[in-house]
Amino acid sequence: MTTDMNTPNPALPEIERDPARMRERIAAARAAGRRVGFVPTMGALHAGHASLAARARAECDDVAVSIFVNPTQFAPHEDFGRYPRTLATDCQLLGEQGVRWVFAPEVAAMYPPGAATRVVVQGPADRFEGASRPGHFDGVATVVCRLFQAVPAGAAYFGAKDWQQTVVVKRMVRDLGLPIGIIVCPTVREPDGLAMSSRNAYLSPAERLRAVALSAGLAQAGRLWSEGTGVPAIEAALRQSLAAHDVACDYAAVVDPESLEPLADASGPAIALVAGRLGSTRLIDNRELPRR
Ligand code: PAJ
Repeated sequence: MTTDMNTPNPALPEIERDPARMRERIAAARAAGRRVGFVPTMGALHAGHASLAARARAECDDVAVSIFVNPTQFAPHEDFGRYPRTLATDCQLLGEQGVRWVFAPEVAAMYPPGAATRVVVQGPADRFEGASRPGHFDGVATVVCRLFQAVPAGAAYFGAKDWQQTVVVKRMVRDLGLPIGIIVCPTVREPDGLAMSSRNAYLSPAERLRAVALSAGLAQAGRLWSEGTGVPAIEAALRQSLAAHDVACDYAAVVDPESLEPLADASGPAIALVAGRLGSTRLIDNRELPRR
């Protein structure tokens, strides 16, 4: 949704910090017959997040966005402390998207002292990001489950940018019978192809130029796939694209898009997944490979 030119000051969203009060507000809106959409985020919002809010706004009557830098999905050595926190500008951007509520809880509200429960999704959470970042998806699944309790919307919107996360969340929703639909939205990219990410802000100017390795490698993977090239050769080409830009490859794989297991059928559909490190910054990207 674009901002109406005649509305220079779109209303800011209401900020709610208390999970129980947030839940009451959502429940009241739904009881009044309104369709509510939910976009979970960690803030430091960019056009990728805005696209999720816009999609939710287009499909629902009211939209809630959560902004919560979730400590349990960061390993001790990761960037939880330095993760960018920009609540005021985030609210401005969400106001422009017509978002009604921002749910911004304190850590203690999400994880009360003595909290002892975790949601662990096995299988699709074990490989790739799960292998590189042990415990990461336990933190994601636990917080998303908790967020769905505080924001009992009819549908939640996630970006394809974090493909494995969408697989893990969909599996959790199915396994636990959570009453919410999961909608996956396309990755928004910079003009050179780099997937937008809050972590791109960490890149030095030189690293920013090299970061195109991921999306360029994936574009080449897409071409090779459609020409009929085999999976090992495509994975090698992906690794080569990262190496050519001096990006350390964490993984480069072509797998089944739902199970993230090796392809049972060489004609797909498939997902190409890649993760690489530039200095201390870790970037991920992916590309869907249609049935061929
Ligand atoms: P965060 O990284 O802030 O991302 C929030 C949502 O925005 C995710 O669904 C992510 O896939 C989506 N997103 C990020 N970059 C995007 C892009 N370039 N195009 C489209 N969508 C994009 O993902 C998380 O937060 C957390 O793990 C969370 C689910 C909130 C749980 O803490």
